[in-house]
Amino acid sequence: MTVRDILKMGDARLLRVAEPVQTFDTPELHALIADLQDTMAAVNGAGLAAPQIGVNLQLVIFGSTAFNPRYPGRPLVPRTVLVNPQITPLGIEEEDDWEGCLSVPGLRGVVPRWSRIRYTGFDEKGIAIDRSVDGFHARVVQHECDHLIGKLYPMRVRDFTRFGYTEVLFPDISAAEDD
Ligand code: NI
Repeated sequence: MTVRDILKMGDARLLRVAEPVQTFDTPELHALIADLQDTMAAVNGAGLAAPQIGVNLQLVIFGSTAFNPRYPGRPLVPRTVLVNPQITPLGIEEEDDWEGCLSVPGLRGVVPRWSRIRYTGFDEKGIAIDRSVDGFHARVVQHECDHLIGKLYPMRVRDFTRFGYTEVLFPDISAAEDD
């Protein structure tokens, strides 16, 4: 379909609370998902949320089935289309790790996230998804779903001594990045 422009931090459209998807398995929904997939693939993203291309719907995609040069050494996460998601933390444990965002190009920061979560929602056909996950998978889901409530990861950073330019922090990753 189409590689769309990704909105960058500062754009007010990234700060909105997204609306739930009302109708599944429509041509419009499939076209939106194809655009998200093409856009994410073009920039080696680990995930992308509809608001990042200016569409104010509760829809995220994430996952990779192959090595991602932006996230070397990270476990693979199944390719998923997740609509109208809900996240529940499983326990109170949090963990810190580095994140980047296609809407915040060139930067990385350490973000605390729930270690284990259950997430529910639907795929593009309206089939229920219900998974309990941890680690990088849990982090990616929390990051993407934050886009649906107008939150970008820098708003979650607590320690700004661990926030900076990718090219300085991680020269090897920076060489593989598109942004
Ligand atoms: Ni992001």
